[in-house]
Amino acid sequence: MKILITGASSGLGAELARQYASDETELVLLARRENRLIDLKNELQTRCKSVEVVAVDVTDFPLLQEKIRNIGVVDMVILNAGVSLGHSNNIPTIAEFKNLYDVNVLSNHAILEVLLPLFLEQKSGKIVFVSSLASLFSMPSSKVYSSSKRALNAYAEGVRYKYKKHGVKVLTILPGFIKSELTDKNDFEMPFILSTQEGVKKIKNAIEKEKEFYAFPLRFYLIISSLNLLPAFLRQRIVNFIN
Ligand SMILES: NC(=O)c1ccc[n+]([C@@H]2O[C@H](COP(=O)([O-])OP(=O)(O)OC[C@H]3O[C@@H](n4cnc5c(N)ncnc54)[C@H](OP(=O)(O)O)[C@@H]3O)[C@@H](O)[C@H]2O)c1
Repeated sequence: MKILITGASSGLGAELARQYASDETELVLLARRENRLIDLKNELQTRCKSVEVVAVDVTDFPLLQEKIRNIGVVDMVILNAGVSLGHSNNIPTIAEFKNLYDVNVLSNHAILEVLLPLFLEQKSGKIVFVSSLASLFSMPSSKVYSSSKRALNAYAEGVRYKYKKHGVKVLTILPGFIKSELTDKNDFEMPFILSTQEGVKKIKNAIEKEKEFYAFPLRFYLIISSLNLLPAFLRQRIVNFIN
């Protein structure tokens, strides 16, 4: 099985590569930090059929698409590259906002614009979108990130409806807090935080079970879903309290 993982140089992406490594797997690891990808390749290549490194900034869409064309068809793409602006009450700049959307939303379409025709040709393919529980509830300090992940959910849903009958499986994963470079920047207590290994094990398990929508940890998901059922004035009070 050939698997392309974006954002493979750290955190969930690197751990996904580790957990997918097997003598039947051909891994393609994509991110900007080439040295990190090469270290990971050196770590995993004896356990895998092959490991390929693709160093590219996903916001350079023409170069990204050229690299994806060179990789050719894969069995599964895990669209995991993502950034956050941290948690801040400053007004984000338009440049920060645009870069975040380029990485978290648009780069995924840049990749799929190339891969979808190949999936349709082979009548199979799995697309895994790594979204976030933050997509379900927009905190004032992380509104840009939340909105990008909510946009991603909507895009993923449409891709699923459109291509399901063509053999393309689309899964959306919504993790809560998992230890990584992204969450290491947070200076507050993160509820229900999971270790990288635990979090990725759950993601891999959901992919194997082909769960089209998988939000975890369950308790955190239920709390967020319940908040969304409250009237707006009560939600506002709770947000004021948390923030
Ligand atoms: N950790 C959590 O609690 C959590 C929760 C919910 C969702 N998520 C999502 O999970 C995904 C992985 O995040 P993580 O927690 O593992 O964070 P991370 O350790 O910071 O990893 C982010 C990855 O994205 C890559 N990336 C960022 N900007 C890029 C760019 N312009 N071009 C190419 N690659 C880029 C980074 O590689 P380079 O810097 O080398 O390019 C890195 O490999 C993200 O989509 C994140 O939103 C994480």
